[in-house]
Amino acid sequence: MNLAEFIEGRRDQHLAELCEFLRIPSVSAKSEHKPDIERASRWVADHLRAAGFKTVEIVPTNLHPLVYAESLEAPGKPTILFYGHYDVQPAEPLDLWTSPAFEPTVRNGNLFGRGTADDKGQVHIHLKALESLRQVNGKFPINVKVLIEGEEEVGSVSLWDYVQKNKEKLKADALVVSDTAMLGKGVPSITYGLRGLNYYQIELTGPARDLHSGVYGGAVPNPLTILTELFAKLHDKNYRAVVPGFYDQVAKVSKAERKALNALPWKRKEFEKAVGAPVYFGEAGFTTIERIAIRPTFELNGIWGGYIGEGAKTVIPSKAFAKFSTRLVPNQEPHKIAKLVEKHIRKLLPKAVHCKFEVLSTGKPWVAPYHAPIFKKAQSALEKGFGKKAVFIREGGSIPFVTQMHDTFKVPCVLIGFGLPDENAHAPDEHIALENYFGGIKAIAHFYADLAAL
Ligand code: BES
Ligand code: MN
Ligand code: MN
Repeated sequence: MNLAEFIEGRRDQHLAELCEFLRIPSVSAKSEHKPDIERASRWVADHLRAAGFKTVEIVPTNLHPLVYAESLEAPGKPTILFYGHYDVQPAEPLDLWTSPAFEPTVRNGNLFGRGTADDKGQVHIHLKALESLRQVNGKFPINVKVLIEGEEEVGSVSLWDYVQKNKEKLKADALVVSDTAMLGKGVPSITYGLRGLNYYQIELTGPARDLHSGVYGGAVPNPLTILTELFAKLHDKNYRAVVPGFYDQVAKVSKAERKALNALPWKRKEFEKAVGAPVYFGEAGFTTIERIAIRPTFELNGIWGGYIGEGAKTVIPSKAFAKFSTRLVPNQEPHKIAKLVEKHIRKLLPKAVHCKFEVLSTGKPWVAPYHAPIFKKAQSALEKGFGKKAVFIREGGSIPFVTQMHDTFKVPCVLIGFGLPDENAHAPDEHIALENYFGGIKAIAHFYADLAAL
């Protein structure tokens, strides 16, 4: 039987198995889900074994276990490392889900549930592609190493150490990842750039304790007011970040590349529909695609403090908090940027508050050429799965491991995304289009089969 027919015949089985994976609430951010994280790591290990891997290990770390597998039984053939993550973002706010986050449900050709697109659905695509190759041909066509981690959504904290201690083991001719999105519906895409991410938290303390706002109000500093004043000063009227030196290291993007990015079959209507805001703006002098792909940002992610319960409470809070982040582009250095940000924030803050400044995680941006022969193979495999030529895109999200791998091994990193920008990753009603899930299995199976000829 040929590969495509084999895969076609197993659609129901594949989908049912993915749903089983999705029912495990492997939320890496919350310690109450530790048992689920471990269950998910075992699920991945078991299904790697079922796919035909004889060497499968669950590697404990300081936080969540990694799953590693390898099959090196194709002498003379290339070796790839496939990377993905089995952890997911928290599902809250739960009441905004049409069907429960961890009860996967099909509606209108989409599978809904936390992790469908990011990243369990995409990891499953590779598991089933490999298993199908094994079942049709009796063996894998190439040498395959697999690394599936459980900490991606919390910054891949344990991974760097593991990579440094296992360089020989992880060495491969190329890295393959499916944890990104396609440019749009029906546009298979290969991602050649990601932004980096620094994540910060500050705690401002004014009065030593909460105060009655009638007894003291008007005569004491209010940290919440100071916090909002601070963030109001961090962008200028052109929506550029106001942190001295922030843009100094930003690499100039060639005219040709900007032209290519702006010529992509990107649809403004789809973008606006996905966002649903009354108007759109961003850094002056750049198009929407450029703002996401090649420009750094400074974003406020959450602020809190004072009274936010029901009704009114007249209080001047002692403390105010904020979480914020910077997306970074080549050649910004995360540690340097963190220093600049801290320096500027401390400079803007009045003496009326103490500031505790924390950098929760840092991550480098990544961009790389795509002329190695493996990219042609990826493109033609995507054409087999989707009937259309793949485009090359840069995305705004971040995957710490890609930079780590690229810096460590200097190998091609092939990022083939099967999500869509409007599939609500990290939000309620996350989903994956079934045509991309099933098309993905087919495309990836062809991709791995074709790599044998490299
Ligand atoms: N899969 C995403 C990364 C991504 C999203 C790449 C969209 C390209 C397009 C990944 O799971 C993710 O969410 N990463 C985090 C970074 C991490 C350090 C928490 C992100 O980008 O916010
Ligand atoms: Mn992801
Ligand atoms: Mn994510």
